[in-house]
Amino acid sequence: MVLTGADILIGRLEERMVEKARIVEPGRIKVGVDLGTAYLVVTVLDEKDQPLAGAMTFAQVVRDGIVVDYWGAVEGVRALKEEIERKTGLQLRRAATAIPPGTGEATHKSHAYVVETAGLEVTAVVDEPTAANRVLGVDNGAVVDIGGGTTGVAVFSGGEVVYVADEPTGGTHITLVLAGRYGLSFLEAEKMKLDPGRRREVLAAAGPVIEKMGTIVREHLRRAGTTVEAVYLVGGTSCLEGVEDIIARVTGLPVYKPRNPLLVTPLGIAMCSRP
Ligand SMILES: Nc1ncnc2c1ncn2[C@@H]1O[C@H](COP(=O)(O)OP(=O)(O)OP(=O)(O)O)[C@@H](O)[C@H]1O
Ligand SMILES: [Mg+2]
Repeated sequence: MVLTGADILIGRLEERMVEKARIVEPGRIKVGVDLGTAYLVVTVLDEKDQPLAGAMTFAQVVRDGIVVDYWGAVEGVRALKEEIERKTGLQLRRAATAIPPGTGEATHKSHAYVVETAGLEVTAVVDEPTAANRVLGVDNGAVVDIGGGTTGVAVFSGGEVVYVADEPTGGTHITLVLAGRYGLSFLEAEKMKLDPGRRREVLAAAGPVIEKMGTIVREHLRRAGTTVEAVYLVGGTSCLEGVEDIIARVTGLPVYKPRNPLLVTPLGIAMCSRP
């Protein structure tokens, strides 16, 4: 499957996230709030799902899909909302948010409370792979979301989710491995991981962690009990160059990676909202 449509949308969102321009006559807007282990992301689309604005911040307020710092999360979302409003002149009133697959009612409620307390009426709480697949449009295949704290696996058959799983492994574990290996603090190791100049060292240290992720994914695809044609990688950790090769080798499947996998779920969440 080609990801051209998704890549164009993601590219547009990337541009809008750095532009400072005010938006004249936006019409009705759709907003998405992604509460992640590593990043909080707010995205804004027009009625036709074209990106208008977005903002993100590094925040450790959610762990393994659970809100662990309620006020930190509220303040983080509120700050992003206000940043976008100041920059664009838009008023953000309603938003959709998302929860990891397979989490219960409590997670659903806590995520919705955070968004409501930050000043946004919640229009929908969707599960993350469903949001991601609004962007990707996978009919038969697996969407694998390698985030900060967790890796989500969702298998789609005929465009419907037929299997989901969420595992406690992600980019945070890679950062911890780097911190241990190089004697760095968590934040120093995080910086090293994101430094393109140190890609080779990062991949050498992270290789075994990514192999393990691949094995976990392979096991879930086996359990899903349906033919999976390909794997689509999303989530910030999928940005690491070379992740796709390791996952392809371990699963034996073709692996596709959209432009900036980090933004796929946040973009899809806004698509799931209503104006
Ligand atoms: N260019 C990059 N290269 C490597 N890792 C990256 C890159 N950009 C972001 N990451 C990592 O991606 C992770 C965050 O990804 P993402 O925003 O998808 O996770 P999240 O939604 O916050 O967490 P989760 O889904 O687990 O709750 C972090 O561990 C971060 O270090
Ligand atoms: Mg996530």
